[in-house]
Amino acid sequence: MSKMATIPPPPAAAMAAAAVSGRQAPPAIMTIFGAAGDLTKRLVVPALYNLVRARKLPDEFAIIGVDIADLTTEGWRQSLTETIDAFAGGAGNFHEAIDEQAWSWLTRRMHYLRGDFAQPETFSRLVMVLDEQRERQDNTANVLFYLAVADRFFGPVIEQLGRAALTRQSDHAWRRVIVEKPFGHDFASAEALNAQILRVLSEDQIYRIDHFLGKETVQNILVLRFANGIFEPLWNRDHVDHVQITAAETVGVEGRGRFYEKTGALRDMVPNHLFQLVAMIGMEPPISFDADAVRAKKTELFQAIHTVSAENAVRGQYSGGVVLGRKVVDYRHEPNVAPDSATETYVALKIGIDNWRWAGVPFYLRTGKRLSARTTEIAVQFRRAPYALFRDTPVDRLPANILTLRIQPDEGLSVSFSAKRPGSEIEIDGVEMDFAYRDYFERLAAVGYETLIYDCLIGDATLFQRADTVQAAWHAVQGLLDSWARDPAKDFPNYAAGSAGPYTADRLIARDGRAWLPIRADHPHTAVRP
Ligand code: BG6
Repeated sequence: MSKMATIPPPPAAAMAAAAVSGRQAPPAIMTIFGAAGDLTKRLVVPALYNLVRARKLPDEFAIIGVDIADLTTEGWRQSLTETIDAFAGGAGNFHEAIDEQAWSWLTRRMHYLRGDFAQPETFSRLVMVLDEQRERQDNTANVLFYLAVADRFFGPVIEQLGRAALTRQSDHAWRRVIVEKPFGHDFASAEALNAQILRVLSEDQIYRIDHFLGKETVQNILVLRFANGIFEPLWNRDHVDHVQITAAETVGVEGRGRFYEKTGALRDMVPNHLFQLVAMIGMEPPISFDADAVRAKKTELFQAIHTVSAENAVRGQYSGGVVLGRKVVDYRHEPNVAPDSATETYVALKIGIDNWRWAGVPFYLRTGKRLSARTTEIAVQFRRAPYALFRDTPVDRLPANILTLRIQPDEGLSVSFSAKRPGSEIEIDGVEMDFAYRDYFERLAAVGYETLIYDCLIGDATLFQRADTVQAAWHAVQGLLDSWARDPAKDFPNYAAGSAGPYTADRLIARDGRAWLPIRADHPHTAVRP
């Protein structure tokens, strides 16, 4: 069992420089609704700080924070200063002292406007603040509105922006809106929200976020597939046996019981995050990186997904257990969770894609809270080689080749294959070629929102969701949502915290003569043995 030698990595510093090079965003004023909220503190502002450090923001840049919290500009800057240290590095162990110069560059540009999103008066004051800022800023009239607010405010805030004429564009001024998730809670509500906001904005002004697309490893899937000659010829039903996509978490609901109770694992993760991974793996090659070229291919893929039925789905809810050596309570004892809750914290699905590339190739998806390890990965399992040649050898079975794309936390990819064990007999061992990002590229401080905010500032919507893409994804799971709503689970809780999920998920895949790969956070560097 050996790890194959890899090509020596290029100098890390040069790679890091390449990663942050590129043009600066144009002058703009960014208005954050929900400025005092958690998302702003944990992700939006740390991402802006990282963009300052990468020299991606222009001098003519300002941030206006809008929130109902009783703060002043000074107070807002102060509260962000207290937490930036903890969040700028993003997840993982990356830590470096805050660059005071970059931070003060950013805080100098921050202004706070206290106001209620439901009141028109807030928006008329915003008009004035934006006008003043524009004068100070050499007439910059480009404005990015970031809705870091609860989803019930998306429609109303956009309507108020429209009424205050803040969404009106000209040749010299763009107006764009970033909408956070969740975008609807089913097909009908997503369709209604699209209709509501499209009455005010044109599609090219709307940037619907799915933060999975901010992950470097997710963006790399397109490069892997389309910048290399070796994968695409094999990337179809003639060669691929099946695909497994896993997003396993060790956390529980992290104090979000109220939100999670009405959401559940299916809505929270599947039509959005997991489907993004399905799209990256399954979509046809777009003709360019143009936003609409890429998004059209994704939408077509979602439209080709068979509606998921209850027979091809498993749901679970965790009981108490031990996760990473720590005892944890069952879901029903989490704060703000009903003692008899029927909300699922785990889901496994088998989906089929009805097109020429993938017909007959199942995609198995699973995601859950409080599992044994935190890992997000995609495993593309190829068809086995014919066995006949090995009949008269000690080899009784040939292992399948698996290409594993590790999205997080141990970012990289590996290919498993068979090799002859040295010796006089034909004996086969599973070996693995491995690529780890950390071996080649310097780790950049990132929270995952840097690219998304920057792309919106430069007007590149490739990594954002289009109206029809979001709706097609909801459409594919709507039948399952309905059938689960009609028939609440009777066996909850059905998996122990710290396990790999309910046994019924094993049955789902075993039915097809297949098995889930183990859920492991640390990459084992061991290949599948024959
Ligand atoms: C969020 C979900 O959108 O994604 C959370 O609401 C989930 O429940 C999170 O934990 C997972 O994202 P990541 O980037 O930590 O894998």
